Amino acid sequence: MSEDQTFRLSRRAFFGSSAFASLGALSVMGAELPASPAGAMQNSSIPFYGSHQAGLTTPAQENLAFATFDIATTSVARLRLMLNQWSTSAAAMTEGRSIPGDSSLSFPPSDTGEAVGRGPANLTVTLGIGPSFFSSPPGRMRAKPGALVELPAFPGDQLDPQASGGALCIQACADDPQVSFHAVHNLVRQGLGVVTLRNLQLGFGRTSNTTVNQESQRNLLGFKDGSNNLMANSGTALDHYVWVDQEQPSWMKGGSYLVARRIRIRLEQWTSSSLQAQQDAIGRAKESGAPLGGKSEHDPVNLSVSGSHGLPVIPEGAHIRVAAPSQNKGVRILRRGYNYADGIDPVSGEIDAGLFFISFQKDPISQFAALQHQLSLGDKLHSYLVHTSSGVYACPRGLVQGQGWGAQLFAS
Ligand code: HEM
Repeated sequence: MSEDQTFRLSRRAFFGSSAFASLGALSVMGAELPASPAGAMQNSSIPFYGSHQAGLTTPAQENLAFATFDIATTSVARLRLMLNQWSTSAAAMTEGRSIPGDSSLSFPPSDTGEAVGRGPANLTVTLGIGPSFFSSPPGRMRAKPGALVELPAFPGDQLDPQASGGALCIQACADDPQVSFHAVHNLVRQGLGVVTLRNLQLGFGRTSNTTVNQESQRNLLGFKDGSNNLMANSGTALDHYVWVDQEQPSWMKGGSYLVARRIRIRLEQWTSSSLQAQQDAIGRAKESGAPLGGKSEHDPVNLSVSGSHGLPVIPEGAHIRVAAPSQNKGVRILRRGYNYADGIDPVSGEIDAGLFFISFQKDPISQFAALQHQLSLGDKLHSYLVHTSSGVYACPRGLVQGQGWGAQLFAS
């Protein structure tokens, strides 16, 4: 399909969408929520519009589809239109509706169709803008957010350039893997000729809690993860560590910065380590999740308790000691990562699996990079890990109903 054809198709779908909104009769597949076989979770939805984007403090869902894109057009108008289409489509999909458009037999359907009947499943679709956006022709004249700088290299990094970076990212999370995939699939399709897909990462099993009501899940190490995370109800801590307050451009006020790192875990090495070595590497008990020296998962982490030999109970080099705010000038981040498994690592022949780490913070350098620097030097867990991709993205503040991402980013 030529660029022009794609553009015409996109325009048609977009203008069709406003018609659709007023003419509910032009119904498309899934426009009405069906009774879902999987019940309440499938039919539960998260509002797309609001002062902050959904998908940060939203209770972490079970599945992830994370896509990155490069800009393929030189036209501001085309990029702006596509971004507006993306937000219109995201809003529809988060309500469990198909992508709006007409249902003429002469054109490809406006929605790819694979989520029909599945409900919204708590879908959130979050947009991020990478540093390279601002060197692309349409982004060159836009003001770049001050804290959006490339992350430094860290000791031990083995980054795949194609899987890293990107001018745009979409984080789609849902409690149904087909719903999160469907969201990205449709945005990729709408972007034809305007953006090119750079990388797609699927994730399963949330590794973080983002509200106190969620129970901690286990990561692929077999440990509970997310016990000591910033959460939706962390109150002013979110303003302090997550939400951008006064930075230019204005679309970042109420936004945040997303860091994504694909971290392969050397699972064979890990599962061959003794239980004691595993617990010492994390600083928590494997079964209960309690900090070593404590009794239950949510006991406070006390780094100053010593054992009978005078050594700290949470050893030097334990992950939760090295990452603790008290060891890092008070720094905290909101973690929101997922497990991944992507077949076999061609070099080692082992399972290529680990953590697709995602964190949100006000400043990627003084928060994420400062922590990662310490972890790469002194974390016992680090010898089991290989970081294979990296990205940093500015996530704009939320949209008000009727506003689009294109209008938000390209407001004069
Ligand atoms: C494969 C990689 C990683 C695994 C498997 C992992 C696993 C864990 C586990 C099991 C905990 C304890 C439970 C909890 O409080 O959530 C934890 C805590 C934590 N991790 Fe990681 N982590 C990884 C990478 C990272 C990275 C890259 C960072 C940041 C640069 C990080 C920052 C933290 C922080 C801040 C805590 C909480 C420390 C505290 O205050 O108690 N982790 N992680």
